[in-house]
Amino acid sequence: DVMKEVFDIRQMEIELQQKLDLAEVHIVPGNSDEFSWVKKEMGRTCIALMKKKLFAKGNTIAVTGGTTIAAVAEMMIPDVDLKEALFVPARGGLGEQVENQANTICATMARKAMGSYRLLHVPDQLSKDAYESLINEPSVKQILELIRSANVVIHGIGEAQTMAERRNSSQEVLEKLENANATAEAFGYYFDQSGDIIHKVLTIGLQLEDLKGIPHIIAVAGGASKANAIKAYMKYGTNQVLVTDEGAAKAILKKT
Ligand code: BG6
Repeated sequence: DVMKEVFDIRQMEIELQQKLDLAEVHIVPGNSDEFSWVKKEMGRTCIALMKKKLFAKGNTIAVTGGTTIAAVAEMMIPDVDLKEALFVPARGGLGEQVENQANTICATMARKAMGSYRLLHVPDQLSKDAYESLINEPSVKQILELIRSANVVIHGIGEAQTMAERRNSSQEVLEKLENANATAEAFGYYFDQSGDIIHKVLTIGLQLEDLKGIPHIIAVAGGASKANAIKAYMKYGTNQVLVTDEGAAKAILKKT
């Protein structure tokens, strides 16, 4: 019955919040590994939550890439509070296909919200030298400042190997990740099951340490297949806000 289902979900939110030491947890019914509408529901929940966190004026919202945040963008609708918001991509190229890139998702989200956006044009493979000269480029510097001044960050969490393969990472990187038991990925950083960083993609934009200065960070990730990844990443970033689904929640709480 519906009431029992709602009650069970509320109960799981409390358990998950305690287990992962989170500030807030929101669980939508279903498992996004099985049904794509579940991702859209997470998107809808994320947007409602985000709106509650906005300043009266002058919001800068940074977003990552991925199919989950793409679903957030898809569910976006125009809103008076978002009309003056500026959307920016969290980080530069991470090796994703166009539809999964932060730039693409940022532009879609801004367009749907009727807000504005700025993009970050950086190649995926950056050498140390190219990186050093890019971050000193005035136009890049300017957008980097905007990104770091974001008051809201919306990001996905991925399963490490899935992400490394999706990004066509080199054999060397794949081996490094395997040897270090990579479990989770977020913002181009890879984590082991204790939440320690074991590898990072070299690109400009938000670095993990920048997150400390950002008031609202919302992670959106679901599906039973991401249970370990969510658990691992949240060991790194405790006291966060998580939007997830029943599939991931049950697997993390071992209720399946
Ligand atoms: C990427 C983000 O684009 O999407 C990653 O930069 C995240 O940090 C990933 O792990 C998640 O992808 P998806 O498709 O599972 O939502």
